[in-house]
Amino acid sequence: MKKLVVLISGNGSNLQSILDACASGRINGSVAAVFSNKESAYGLTRAQQASVPGLALSPGDFPDRETFDRQLMQEIDAFEPDLVVLAGYMRILSSAFVAHYHDRLLNIHPSLLPKYPGLHTHRQALENGDKEHGTSVHFVTDELDGGPVVLQARVPIFPGDDEAEITARVQHQEHAIYPLAISWFMDGRLVMREGKAWLDGQLLPAQGYAP
Ligand code: GAR
Repeated sequence: MKKLVVLISGNGSNLQSILDACASGRINGSVAAVFSNKESAYGLTRAQQASVPGLALSPGDFPDRETFDRQLMQEIDAFEPDLVVLAGYMRILSSAFVAHYHDRLLNIHPSLLPKYPGLHTHRQALENGDKEHGTSVHFVTDELDGGPVVLQARVPIFPGDDEAEITARVQHQEHAIYPLAISWFMDGRLVMREGKAWLDGQLLPAQGYAP
């Protein structure tokens, strides 16, 4: 059975959707381990409840990003994952980390990329008066939130919405599309080749899969 390692920093609601999809067979694989850069992350409790090893590494215990990432890679590799999944992992990755997991590193970012890379995406969408917003699953490259998009989900922004409402609406979609994209990868249908995302041998367009 193929194996995933999931990296988190917080609540882990996306992790939960992935654990649930593995348990129900929607993802053909299992979560071998969960890593967090924050000991207090609730996602570690979710891992424990699912009988999955949940491990925390504190950046403060390491002299720099490279050393932290090197230790993290070593610990991840002990689980021999087929895919490494970033699920609300709020830390910039070193180039060595990205290169090491090249072609098998997915992220979910709460915006319709290439719009709003970086932080505070919901707030920016609100402040700019956007009528729609969303989330993107993408392969990770050295460019921050810049790797090829696999799948996006759109949500409306209604007059009077606040940031919490938009966040909840986006996350609801994330819990559907992230397990789906992961299942494609685990089934060998989704690959990154020549810096681009391919599904069933077809090059995916810039906005990812569109039926
Ligand atoms: C998710 O909405 C995810 O898109 C976002 O963090 C949230 C984590 O929620 N990721 C980023 O902003 C990465 N740049 P969760 O811990 O409940 O899954």
